[in-house]
Amino acid sequence: MYGASDPAAADRTAFRRAEKQYKLYKPPNLKGRSRSRSKPDGVEGGCGDLSAVVDFHALLAADGELPAGIGRSNCAGFDHPVFCFLDRPGFYFIPGALSTEEQCYWIRESLKTFPQPPNRTNLTAIYGSISDLFVAAKNRKILVEVENSDVQEKEQNNGDGKTESKYSKFVEDSEIQKGEGCRSTRATTLMRKLRWSTLGLQFDWSKRNYDVSLPHKRIPDALANLAKNMAIPAMPFGEEFKPEAAIVNYYGPSDMLGGHVDDMEADWTKPIVSISLGCKCIFLLGGKTRDEVPTAMFLRSGDIVLMAGEARERFHGVPRIFTESDQQEISALVSQLSGEDDCFILDYIKNSRININIRQVY
Ligand code: OGA
Ligand code: MN
Repeated sequence: MYGASDPAAADRTAFRRAEKQYKLYKPPNLKGRSRSRSKPDGVEGGCGDLSAVVDFHALLAADGELPAGIGRSNCAGFDHPVFCFLDRPGFYFIPGALSTEEQCYWIRESLKTFPQPPNRTNLTAIYGSISDLFVAAKNRKILVEVENSDVQEKEQNNGDGKTESKYSKFVEDSEIQKGEGCRSTRATTLMRKLRWSTLGLQFDWSKRNYDVSLPHKRIPDALANLAKNMAIPAMPFGEEFKPEAAIVNYYGPSDMLGGHVDDMEADWTKPIVSISLGCKCIFLLGGKTRDEVPTAMFLRSGDIVLMAGEARERFHGVPRIFTESDQQEISALVSQLSGEDDCFILDYIKNSRININIRQVY
């Protein structure tokens, strides 16, 4: 993903220092987390400080005067509260934009449908096209890599003149021929290795650009309609947002998204509509260079962020996700998902965050 991993560069800029500070944050007073013997039993000091992190849910619940620099954006016909930063035009925060049912729906889609071909994922380059990964993981199947044949080559042609050189299929554990020498990986392991999938126009991460020659389907109508409705506060009156591509990010417990600017879309006046699902995280909104001190805020499941105009030029990233059970803030999701047969989804989301960000490319 984005962001330098050069440790020497780790704290050269204000943005990197903030990333490091929050990445290393440890909650205080948690028994059994640290093996430090220097502290009295049960009193762990924690590490770091979240007091500067803006909490829009708390501001909404308090329903009082807002801290300096934060405002409410009034948008005719838009029936969700919207917050903004007075000195950061083009950034909008819609706390609790999605109901628990809607969150469950989009989590399910993100795991079952969005990684399906022709959509590409981070696994495509390694294993070739993988169908029905979610079902395979649920059924404890195993992916085996097969030598490419002419037929498979045809099926695997990306349309960009290159072919996927690999072809993989799911088999039962018992079907694996011992000593055959083909590489095999559990579907559950692959599910945990899923980092991103791309919907609509396919984003090519190696070139950091859209590759229009890659086969793709339109963004699902329900997601396009949601994005159009949620984009309203950031759109000029009467204009409609046109969702053409989406990137779905899957974060495990220690994953982060380094500071970056999304600059591959033609018209920066149009917003990026960014949906948060699953575990709470810290989102950093910085300036046009990494030298500006970023503002940190909590993003929780169901929150939506819009970045348009000037805000699109700002560095942003996710240095920390909270998978600790007393920090993740997904109790509504957990009770909703517990009633269903999908314990796989429940287990997944307890340790993960999913971000769907929807873009107008042209
Ligand atoms: C991105 C992005 C933010 C998030 O994918 O470009 O900025 O909340 N995601 O995960
Ligand atoms: Mn981004």
